[in-house]
Amino acid sequence: MFWRSHTTTPKNPSPVTMQTTTVTSGDLLDGQWAYLPGSYRENGGITIKPANLAIVEQDGSGGQSNPAINEYGTYLKGASDFEVSASMQKVTDTASVQLYGQLPVIADEFRVERKSVQLTITGNTLAVRIWDGSSQSPVVTRYADIPNGGTAGEHQVTISHQRGSLQISVDQQPLLNETDRAIFGDGNIWFGFGAEKSPWFLSKLTARGLNGKTFQTVDASTASIASPAADGLQQLATKKRPGFTVGAAMALGPAVADPSYTQVAFGGQFGAVTPENAMKWQFTEPVRGLYTFQEADALVSLAERNHMKVQGHTLVFAEGNPAWVRQLPASELERAMVDHIKITVGHFKGKVASWDVVNEPFDDDEWDQLRPHIWYQAMGESYIAKAFTAAREADPNALLFMNEYGLEEDGDRWNNFLALVTRLKQQGVPIDGVGFQAHVYEAGDKIDTAVLQRHMQQLAAIGVKARISEMDVYSDDGPAVQSQQYHDVFNMCLSEPNCISWTTWGVSDKYDYFKDDDGSIQTGEDFLWNAKLQPNQAVTMLQSILR
Ligand code: XIL
Repeated sequence: MFWRSHTTTPKNPSPVTMQTTTVTSGDLLDGQWAYLPGSYRENGGITIKPANLAIVEQDGSGGQSNPAINEYGTYLKGASDFEVSASMQKVTDTASVQLYGQLPVIADEFRVERKSVQLTITGNTLAVRIWDGSSQSPVVTRYADIPNGGTAGEHQVTISHQRGSLQISVDQQPLLNETDRAIFGDGNIWFGFGAEKSPWFLSKLTARGLNGKTFQTVDASTASIASPAADGLQQLATKKRPGFTVGAAMALGPAVADPSYTQVAFGGQFGAVTPENAMKWQFTEPVRGLYTFQEADALVSLAERNHMKVQGHTLVFAEGNPAWVRQLPASELERAMVDHIKITVGHFKGKVASWDVVNEPFDDDEWDQLRPHIWYQAMGESYIAKAFTAAREADPNALLFMNEYGLEEDGDRWNNFLALVTRLKQQGVPIDGVGFQAHVYEAGDKIDTAVLQRHMQQLAAIGVKARISEMDVYSDDGPAVQSQQYHDVFNMCLSEPNCISWTTWGVSDKYDYFKDDDGSIQTGEDFLWNAKLQPNQAVTMLQSILR
């Protein structure tokens, strides 16, 4: 499969190991490409579909391009001087190949580009764009004509990297030369592809070392963790209260690209993964009827391989919906919602233990009222019952939750929410539980555990389970305040029989990205592990509860 294979022994000191092969050249399509979103393998190559993967703003506007990347599969490590060549066929519209030196950070309101080079062919024009991590827009955009366009729709695109420069050729003709801007300084190369309006076919993808240099081909889907921490939160929780789950929200990028993250996230601390964004509608069905479950499938696979559950998030939400959903006439929304639920829950049947079927049904401003989003406008309150009914039909064994924030305190929001759940239960709607998001973003959000405990007991009284689903705690008031909040809420949940799990909305501050009110992208220090993947004080406090 690879030429001149020197060694197959991973020389990786990290406890996370993957199948690694050191080569001077390789036919990369022999590797793992099953998890590349919006594509499928056929005839020895890969068809790249126009999935139009895009990321919208919280209000549904915009559409930042989010082209697919082969994160959970074949990529290169230890590459210095190299040449990568892609054979493209059936190109009738815009087609692109992108080489990433660093993976972007992908959230559902933004994608933070780090280091990559994108080569796009449209007709007889080549466009080269370079992102170097300093800005969200490419720092270089260049165009070149492709002379004698070759056979219609067939091109070989080659990029070589040596002596600080990048040279791009099409059909063997050198067209552009750029300084490398340290894009590949880490030695990693991930591959991504895009199609705008029509599919195209990647018939071959090869890499070779230049100037005698070798590199490793790696398959991220084979990653395994040597020894789960014996004092991991989930390990301890299972001893203290069998069946209780400690979870965390996760994204695929850090899980595949950062072994120190992988070790914490999948190494015994957590018993469940909540895909932070990968199961939201714009990621799973970016175009009507074209399902792109691959990124979520990758997280599910990682969870399974490490004996963790998956908490599905989320099916019906005001946010994270692709443009086509928002453009549907109201009369088609029920059909679209039910189809989406049946196909999504059906796809993950038996693999996802629970679903946030309805997320954030209450309004941000009219705090105690149902949110008047597209689903409510089309169906009124009945969208909730319809959504739960469809989910139950698609997987009778998954636990079905309604997930909300701001339910930790007393007041009309909670009263009306509880009345709604009571009503749904009386109507026989298959709702199993309520997720309390428990975000503590500022001092005013601080949770009074006596109040929250009473709310959980009120649910228990009507036969409904509870869970803490998204807890994170601001750090402005220092680690003592932060860790005390974590401690108190965890402790209370563990002691309430109907509180079945506690989940935090991230693992490490290294990936604590969020969009601020002014639109800027910031990082915070809200999580249990700091930016160096060392445990914060809160971890010690949670462990002490569990010991
Ligand atoms: C957040 C994600 O963490 C971000 O990455 C994304 O940009 C926006 O959504 N309540 C929810 C989650 O139910 O889906 C939200 O997740 C956080 C608030």
